[in-house]
Amino acid sequence: MTIATKRGHDPIPLSSLAFWTSTAEEREPSFRELRRDRPVSWHPPFEGALVPDLDPDGGYWAVVRHADVMAVSRNPELFCSGRGVMFEDIPQFVADAAQSFLQADAPRHTKLRRLVSTAFTPRQVARIEAQIVRQAATIVDDLLAGPAEFDFVHAVSKRLPMWTVSDMMGVPLDDRQPVVTAADSMVSWNDPEVQAGRDPLQVLTDSLIALHGHARALAEARRADPADDVMTALVQAEVDGERLTDDEICAFFVLLSVAGNDTTRNTISHGMKALCDNPDQRALLTEHFDAHIGTAVEELVRWATPVMTFRRTATADTELGGQPITAGDKVVMFYSAANRDETAFPDADRFDVTRHPNEHVGYGGGGPHFCMGASLARRQLRAIFGELLHRVPSLELGPPELLVGNFIHGVTRMPGRYTPSR
Ligand code: HEM
Repeated sequence: MTIATKRGHDPIPLSSLAFWTSTAEEREPSFRELRRDRPVSWHPPFEGALVPDLDPDGGYWAVVRHADVMAVSRNPELFCSGRGVMFEDIPQFVADAAQSFLQADAPRHTKLRRLVSTAFTPRQVARIEAQIVRQAATIVDDLLAGPAEFDFVHAVSKRLPMWTVSDMMGVPLDDRQPVVTAADSMVSWNDPEVQAGRDPLQVLTDSLIALHGHARALAEARRADPADDVMTALVQAEVDGERLTDDEICAFFVLLSVAGNDTTRNTISHGMKALCDNPDQRALLTEHFDAHIGTAVEELVRWATPVMTFRRTATADTELGGQPITAGDKVVMFYSAANRDETAFPDADRFDVTRHPNEHVGYGGGGPHFCMGASLARRQLRAIFGELLHRVPSLELGPPELLVGNFIHGVTRMPGRYTPSR
C-alpha cells in the first residue's frame, strides 16, 4: 500500500467530468486499483465546480474502502457535515435552501431529525405502505394497458417514489410532476441535457425557486387546514420552544423531494436491469419471492448504489487508512467503490439476490445521517419488484441512458418491452 505524499495528486482522474460520463462498470477498475493500492488518495478540486476552491493546495481525500467509509460516517465529531456534504462546494445559499439537516451536525441535526422522524413513525409508515402496495399494482396495470414498447423510467421507475413522497408531504396531484422535475434538476446540474443551455447555477436557482414556491403554498394551506401529512407536522412542530421558519420548512421539503425520489427510482431502474442481465437470479427470485426478497432488496441497493458520494470535513488532525489527514481537509466517501470492496463482499462483482450478510453502504455508513427513508424504500422495492416479476415475466430492457455526474447514479431513459399475452 502506498501512503500518498500529502498534496501530490493521484493519477486516477476522479475530479474530471469525463470520468463520470463513463458507466459504473467502466469506473470500477479505477476504484479497484485505489482500494488495493491507495485507499485514501488526494485529488484536485472537481473540474468546473460551481464554487472555485481558492486554496492553492485545495482538493479532497477520496475514501474508497468499505471499512474507511464506515469509519468516516460513524465519527461525526471528527468528520463533520456542517461544512458541506456535496463532493464539490456549492454556493451557501443553495446549501441553506436545499439541504436542511443533511448538512447539519449535532445538536441541531439531532433536534431537527427527531422532529421530522414523526413522519416515519410505524403508524405513518403503515398508512403509506398500504398506498405503496396499491400504487405498485396500478403502475403495472397501466404498463400492461399501454404500448408493449415504452421507456421504463417514465412508465415505471419514476412513478412510485413520486407518489410516496407526495403522499407523505401532502403535495396536491397537479403539483407532483413539476415538483419531481425540479427535484431531479437539483442533483443533475452537471448533465448537459438538464442544463439545456443554462449554466449550472441557473439550473439550481430555477429548481429552488420552483420547489420553495410549492413548499410555501403547501405550508400556508396546512396552517389554514391541517391534514394527516408531513407538512402539517412541520408547520405545527416546535424545536426548543420555537416554530420552524418558512425557510427551514422549505429546505426540508427540498431535501425530502430529492432524497425520496431519485434514490428509489434509480434503484428500480438499475435493479430491474440487473435482474434482466442475470436471468438465473431473476428466475430464483420470481420463483421463491417471499424467501429471497429481503436479501434481494439489499443486493439491489448495493448493486445500484444510487447515491455515489457524500463528503465530510475533518475537524482535527487525524489518520485514516494509514493516511494522515489535516484539520479542514475535505474527505469524500465513495459509496459506489465501498459497495464493491472485495474484503467486505465475497465475489463483490457478482449480483446475488441471496447475498447474506450484506452490510452495504447504499443508505450511508451507519452514522447519524443514515437514510431516514430506508425502511420506506425497502417497502417500495418489495412492492414494485413483486408486481413486475410476477405480472410482466416477459419484460426485457435495453441499454440505459445514464445521467452525467458524480452524485446520483441515475438512469434517464431505458427502453423496455414485453410480449402481451393473447
Ligand atoms: C433506495 C433508496 C434510498 C437510498 C439508496 C438512500 C440513500 C441515502 C443516503 C446515502 C443518505 C445519506 C446517509 C449518510 O450521510 O450517512 C440518505 C439520507 C437521507 N435519506 Fe435516503 N435513500 C433512499 C430513499 C429515501 C427515501 C424514500 C426517503 C424519504 C421518503 C429518504 C430520506 C432521506 C433523508 C431525509 C435523509 C437525510 C438524513 C439525515 O441527514 O439525517 N431516503 N439517504
